[in-house]
Amino acid sequence: MGSINNSIDFKRDGDVAVITIDNPPVNALKHEVRSGLVEALKQIGDPAIKAVVIACKGRTFSAGADISEFGKPMQAPGLGEVIKAIEASSKPVVAAVHGTAFGGGLELALACHYRVAVASARVGLPEIKLGILPGAGGTQRLPRLMGPEKGLAAILSGDPIPADQALADGIIDEIVTGDLTSAAVAFARKVVAENRPLRLVRDREEKLQAARANPKSYEDAAAKLTSRSGGRRAPAAVIESVRNSFTLPFDEGIAREQALFRELVVTDESRAQRHVFFAEREAARVPDMPSGLRSLPFDKAVVIGAGTMGGGIAMCFANAGIPVTVVETGKDALTKGLDRVADTYRTTIKRGRLTQEEMDKRMALISGSVELEAAADVPVVIEAVFEEMGLKKEVFAKLDKVAKPDTLLATNTSTLDVNEIARATARPKDVLGTHFFSPANVMRLLEIVRGKETSHHMLAGAIALGRTLGKVPVVVGVCDGFVGNRMLAKRGVEAERLLLEGALPHQVDGAVTEFGFPMGPFAMGDLAGLDVGWRIRKARGTKAEITDPLCEAGRFGQKTGKGYYIYEKGSRTPTPDPEVEAIIVAASKRLGIERHPISKEEIVERMIYPMINEGARILDEGIAYRPGDIDVIWIYGYGWPVWRGGPMFYGDTVGLPHIRDRLAIYAERSGDKSLEPAPLLARLAGEGKGFASVTAPKGAAA
Ligand SMILES: NC(=O)c1ccc[n+]([C@@H]2O[C@H](COP(=O)([O-])OP(=O)(O)OC[C@H]3O[C@@H](n4cnc5c(N)ncnc54)[C@H](O)[C@@H]3O)[C@@H](O)[C@H]2O)c1
Repeated sequence: MGSINNSIDFKRDGDVAVITIDNPPVNALKHEVRSGLVEALKQIGDPAIKAVVIACKGRTFSAGADISEFGKPMQAPGLGEVIKAIEASSKPVVAAVHGTAFGGGLELALACHYRVAVASARVGLPEIKLGILPGAGGTQRLPRLMGPEKGLAAILSGDPIPADQALADGIIDEIVTGDLTSAAVAFARKVVAENRPLRLVRDREEKLQAARANPKSYEDAAAKLTSRSGGRRAPAAVIESVRNSFTLPFDEGIAREQALFRELVVTDESRAQRHVFFAEREAARVPDMPSGLRSLPFDKAVVIGAGTMGGGIAMCFANAGIPVTVVETGKDALTKGLDRVADTYRTTIKRGRLTQEEMDKRMALISGSVELEAAADVPVVIEAVFEEMGLKKEVFAKLDKVAKPDTLLATNTSTLDVNEIARATARPKDVLGTHFFSPANVMRLLEIVRGKETSHHMLAGAIALGRTLGKVPVVVGVCDGFVGNRMLAKRGVEAERLLLEGALPHQVDGAVTEFGFPMGPFAMGDLAGLDVGWRIRKARGTKAEITDPLCEAGRFGQKTGKGYYIYEKGSRTPTPDPEVEAIIVAASKRLGIERHPISKEEIVERMIYPMINEGARILDEGIAYRPGDIDVIWIYGYGWPVWRGGPMFYGDTVGLPHIRDRLAIYAERSGDKSLEPAPLLARLAGEGKGFASVTAPKGAAA
């Protein structure tokens, strides 16, 4: 409880006033904070006060606006008024920064005459990640400190800037040691004693001169930085606003920034990104999870299998500083697996994203064994052997004998029944799926597959482990393909159908990338390799009308230099190939399908709506707890464009009645019953509701 209100404290340290924000957990700038700051600043007129320090209590400086206030009318005073009150001060105001000064937090600090920070502090303007731009002067003040080009890059990336970099760029004035508030008070006294000029950031023009003299350089930098942002509104608004910092008087720049903010905050793009922000935080919440569970001590781990996934998962542990033992069937496979891990690290070094020293540290955390007994004394085992039920059961039966009690036993299966695997042990409550995505050391998504008997204790453990490994954990239930791959399969069926009806791979991929995915289904198939599925189909006696002839012609994808596309030697750029067109046309003919042109709009609908339909079934079955969970899965596991909010959010944006009607047409045309509108989708569409209304979890995801 502060002296001004619940969130703001005002104290005197001799001749320095110390205003402290205390709004845990991140000192968000909610209404009470803003009004308290304005009140506190009214008191600094006292002649005994010579300087002011603004500091924050707890683990961080202010991490920004309270985003739950977005989209509603802002209750006065706004942050702009707080900033005006600071800038009106005739006494030096010093911001004392620790933790993260983000968004509105940094904008508040930029209004102060000086900024001091501890070495571990980070600053940044991450608004772009919510589809908006900094709306309290960030686009006008940051360029005045860093220069417009650097400022633009910082605002467009939204990434945090570490204190030493911030010092070099002129964003902060000093890095201090010891108690931060005392150091800031001492700094403020020095400013007074030395009679330093009180220059506001708004009045600093020196870093703007270069851009004024050579505006083309700014435009070139802007074009380069946004070459991949498509038609998104927020990056364009940021470019305009930062340009205003050196072309317009300060107050006009501020007025335009505010107008742009108001425009952006109501766009679908921004609503989508805010939805994802909240959905991600909600995704790991399990509705029936009791509180007060004992945590598992994840201080070491075992991964079984040193293949593509096992190696990547082992790297996740090493990257998080956790010692891990990889178990293989023999010495050769083990050496090969560990060599591949080292190779991956070396590539990262070559790209300048890792030091040799760091690689050595991580490799030292990874050891190998050819004995399953290595799993005897660890809190977690993750199995990543071949995708064969018999083999997985054998491994789990052995693990059951070897592993000590209270070991989390996880399988990385992507298609098999986790309940059946669990039953191979006498402790199915300790078994669940941890579905990593490839490359496991890179992809953020972790589907945690909750089995019928999985205990809350192990489920909570797996979620905590996912976070420790830097993943975004989402709890799902057991079904074929879980959430992500089950929906992807629907897209795959439709993609092939589009080829048979008249489209070509580059047309389908083009429509999908224009929608915002980094890659279309065919380029993705070439990257992953077409032969795996082909072999599985051959073994099962099923077939794919186009992919099978491609594989028979030795076209396995990028690894053979050709698949749905042709690749020049050493290149990963897909080029359309007439030979593929001939194979496709022959397949259409064989099946008696008359080929016809298909519009881009229809391709997009047919690539997206069947997935939304399957998502509705998944939700109805309780395989996912919430529509937002499905969105998070698609954003972090499959490159769904974040500014479109994920498939279920997008469905609501388009409107469910439209999707229902289009699906009905596609179902009728193709005779594919699975395209008929799912009951939940049809019901919501009929009631004029969206998926967002499905908030009540259906209970256990299993
Ligand atoms: N590759 C992917 O994109 C991907 C994505 C998600 C999940 N998965 C799943 O991950 C698992 C592994 O897939 P992968 O692509 O890494 O396969 P992989 O073929 O690259 O590797 C499997 C490894 O397991 C080893 N192995 C087999 N039996 C073993 C045993 N009894 N003990 C120890 N090691 C044994 C093999 O020697 C091989 O090195 C599968 O269940 C797969 O479905 C794969």
